[in-house]
Amino acid sequence: MNASAESTYKGIILAGGAGRRLLPLTHGVSKQLMPVYDKPMIHYPLSTLMLASIRDILVITTPRDQAAFETFLGDGSQWGISLSYAVQEEPKGIAQAFLIGESFIAETPVSLILGDNIFYAEGLADKLSVAAERTQGATIFGYYVTDPERYGVVSFDAAGKALDIVEKPTEPKSHYAVTGLYFYDKQVVDIAKSLRPSDRGELEITDVNRAYLEREQLAVEILGRGTAWLDTGTHDSLLDAAVFVRVIEKRQGLKIACPEEIAYRMGYITDRELEQLAADFGESGYARYLMAVLREER
Ligand code: G1P
Repeated sequence: MNASAESTYKGIILAGGAGRRLLPLTHGVSKQLMPVYDKPMIHYPLSTLMLASIRDILVITTPRDQAAFETFLGDGSQWGISLSYAVQEEPKGIAQAFLIGESFIAETPVSLILGDNIFYAEGLADKLSVAAERTQGATIFGYYVTDPERYGVVSFDAAGKALDIVEKPTEPKSHYAVTGLYFYDKQVVDIAKSLRPSDRGELEITDVNRAYLEREQLAVEILGRGTAWLDTGTHDSLLDAAVFVRVIEKRQGLKIACPEEIAYRMGYITDRELEQLAADFGESGYARYLMAVLREER
């Protein structure tokens, strides 16, 4: 991680939904605030956007949960970024984020990440930076999975060119799931406005991606074998993600998705500011970790 120029992209984290598959955990608390080992789930997608040098971020939540997210994340200034908030009244699809966020987006390119998607890979920041520098069209990411029927699925021709994208196909034409991380140029709001709800009553992100594909403006990057892409929507996948984070963090003594560390290493906050953040965490192991980051850099 090195200090890098701010991306022209803005970011949106979609943290809506009722989290029904996680009941009773989510009876009073948002899914995206559930712990994934040592930090709330939303810190992972937030860190992914920060690694893409995106510093102006809209968090879209439910009416019930907005206040809790503001308590957890604040206005972002502590991490040298800007966080604002909006509400999705009802879960009417991922692509609705661009309608809710229209005035925030304000004709700039935008990256959307789903609040329950966790990415971890060597060289991820470089891959994200390439996407976040593209000024025209869209970038999505394909990831080989055993159960593609659960996802949007992208299929390719013999030359590796994307042919089609289908949402939750009963007979998937490939093993490549489309992950919940997307980069779009400023056309995305108009494309989202032109969509009709699908059979499940949602504005589908897959239809947005297909619109870019039809315009021949869709880049599909493959996240290869060395990448972990985890989702956290069920009790088992939530525990799996926590165990994964714990294994890596204990082995290396380095944290995954620590916004304070990323902000510091990206040059968004100073030594003194990191020290203050550590002090705010009191006697905790998290505070000791931040102080260790500081000592190592000094
Ligand atoms: C959504 C998208 C799907 C994508 C997935 C990634 O699925 O519709 O295309 O592959 O996120 O997490 P959903 O969460 O609605 O099942």
